[in-house]
Amino acid sequence: MDIKTFSEAPWLYLSLSIVIAFATYLILRRQRPATAINEEMNDVKQAAAEGFSSSEEIFPPSSDFIAKARVKGMAGYQKLYRRSIDDPEGFWADEAKELTWFEPWTKVLDESKKPFFKWFVGGKTNLAYNCIDAQIAKGLGEKVAIVFEGEPTPGGVAEIRKITYRELLSEVSRFANVLKSLDLKKGDTVAIYMPMVPELAFAVLACARIGVVHSVVFGGFSAESIRDRVNDANSKAVITMDGGYRRGKFLPLKQTVDEAVKDCPSCKHVLVLQRHLGKPDAACTMQSGRDLWYHERAAQVTDVCPAVWQESNDMLFLLYTSGSTGKPKGIIHGTGGYMLQAYTTNKYVFDLRNDDLFWCTADVGWVTGHTYVVYGPLLNGASVLMYEGAPDAPDFGRFWKIIQDHKVSVFYTAPTAIRAFMKWGDEWVKKHDLSSLRLLGSVGEPINPEAWLWYHRNIGAARCPIVDTWWQTETGGHMITPIPGCTPTKPGSATLPFFGVDAAVLDENGEETDSGILAIRKPWPGITQGIYGDEKRYIEAYWSRWGGKYYFPGDGAIKDKDGYLWITGRVDDVVNVSGHRIGTAELEAVFIENEAVAESAVIGVKHDLKGQGLMAFVILKTAHAKTVNEANLAKTLNNMVDAKIGKFARPERIVFVPDLPKTRSGKIMRRLLRDISEDRELGNVSTLADPAVVEAIRQKFATPAV
Ligand code: WTA
Repeated sequence: MDIKTFSEAPWLYLSLSIVIAFATYLILRRQRPATAINEEMNDVKQAAAEGFSSSEEIFPPSSDFIAKARVKGMAGYQKLYRRSIDDPEGFWADEAKELTWFEPWTKVLDESKKPFFKWFVGGKTNLAYNCIDAQIAKGLGEKVAIVFEGEPTPGGVAEIRKITYRELLSEVSRFANVLKSLDLKKGDTVAIYMPMVPELAFAVLACARIGVVHSVVFGGFSAESIRDRVNDANSKAVITMDGGYRRGKFLPLKQTVDEAVKDCPSCKHVLVLQRHLGKPDAACTMQSGRDLWYHERAAQVTDVCPAVWQESNDMLFLLYTSGSTGKPKGIIHGTGGYMLQAYTTNKYVFDLRNDDLFWCTADVGWVTGHTYVVYGPLLNGASVLMYEGAPDAPDFGRFWKIIQDHKVSVFYTAPTAIRAFMKWGDEWVKKHDLSSLRLLGSVGEPINPEAWLWYHRNIGAARCPIVDTWWQTETGGHMITPIPGCTPTKPGSATLPFFGVDAAVLDENGEETDSGILAIRKPWPGITQGIYGDEKRYIEAYWSRWGGKYYFPGDGAIKDKDGYLWITGRVDDVVNVSGHRIGTAELEAVFIENEAVAESAVIGVKHDLKGQGLMAFVILKTAHAKTVNEANLAKTLNNMVDAKIGKFARPERIVFVPDLPKTRSGKIMRRLLRDISEDRELGNVSTLADPAVVEAIRQKFATPAV
């Protein structure tokens, strides 16, 4: 039979297509997670073997703390948790009723477009209104909302400011009117690049007040990073400041923005706040038509600006964060659900009251600063402390002096900082009176039991509970954490899920296990609305692992006999350096731009202070391998990292190697690079195309860097 067309032999074409489709499916299935997952499992298993969750000490909350706590004892936690899982809509609706809604919602949770969930559908509210106006309505107008302590300029005194809720309303409203005068309106996006000063909070809240989407860019990012974020989000303006100080060093923020927006066609205005008038360093070149001084515009508008009501699922902000592939992704957060996550986690996890002074040391450039510096504490009518400077300037006692001077009651910081405090010595702590503290928190990376115990004894005087809070940019707020008046804590464990969080530890097949990968089953109010402009990437990165049944956060976890969760760290190619998320692919993309570089592999390695550091292995092109001066090239590559990402992303070391350990199918076995870097016995090398490579790398690694 001479078969030419489909109509002549449909059965043959059909069966051929089925065979091809099935074969493709099998190939894809085999290719995608197989090796990756095995490596990840090894990491978690190894952590378990190294005694990650072996701490047997248990610290129940004191009876004093329980007596004053909002939720008391494990029975209190269990009761609320059970309801939040059995009747999530009822639970969250009751919580949401504590906030102000202009119009009620028609449906608490709409799952019809899973994994793009909608919370409080049809409900109208405004976050800035809830943070400010609603507190004034409760009689807190004259209460201090923000306590600000500036960086001490060399030889000078730190600037201290106290801003009441009523003053905050005036500042934020005026700021919002300035934004309106630039023709910015609901749905437009604005990038914010500022130091940790109250005006940063004003800017964020002003955007929220009129429905402008804010995209805060951490002040440590380079011009190129700002440019990428402005272009990805189509930001219409950038808000910045003439500059900031850190350890007495001037940071020329406006200049960096100038450099960035040269290539940002969507950016029509740069709004500049003036803080360092008369300082030569801070002189700004203003481009006419584009650049505007904030104070000049502010003088032309009033300080009255009604909040614009937002539908609960209207976009509130974008925040860029690193993933395992490609460029940083714009994580979208909506209004109502995020507001509830911020409100309830501050209420239950920090047990915040309106007589608390809460200090979260994170920069507003990261998600922790969004939820636990700006939105959450104000939603609870607390006072929040903002500090501009570094923990070690002018001396190692800086943080403790701030706590003593302002009587901070709740302190929230990262394990990296705690390890630095330990290194600097207890005497800095002992010199200060920390008796105002009642609760401590930890965030950003796993906390090692030694750091936990030091924090507990030295900062908490063995009296303050510690809440080790696991969560991410994508989750909007805490997900796994103790509730301080309830949960007995174990040093190093984030303990149990927050209300509404249905967490599991799974193996590669989606079966529950003791040590594996963290997974979340049910949606929670603060869940991201996706990745800006890339729905597919969102589904692939977070929802494809277990057939769409679970959210995949990218962390390994161990579940102990009491059901406590111990987060072991990332299982993808994201590294947590001092609690800052950096994708190894981002650094590799920087290195490859250098003409001498053929290929590179960047990995995360254990670091005593930072938790993890970055180690780069670079192969040179043959034409360069013999002639290149490695020390000079390493310098050049580091400078490229500074320029393209920011200084904080520099690797610990760049090792030039003849080759990388690859499997026969060309996949780099990063695990072997980690074994070499951490001086461990090598894992299985039998799948390598050329097992001798490993020895060559080991030798090069052992040769001290020049
Ligand atoms: C890590 C920061 C262990 C984790 C809030 C997560 C933690 C990533 C903890 C998110 C913790 C955060 N214990 N690991 N308590 N908190 N992480 O998006 O790897 O900057 O996936 O959000 O930090 O980092 P992100």
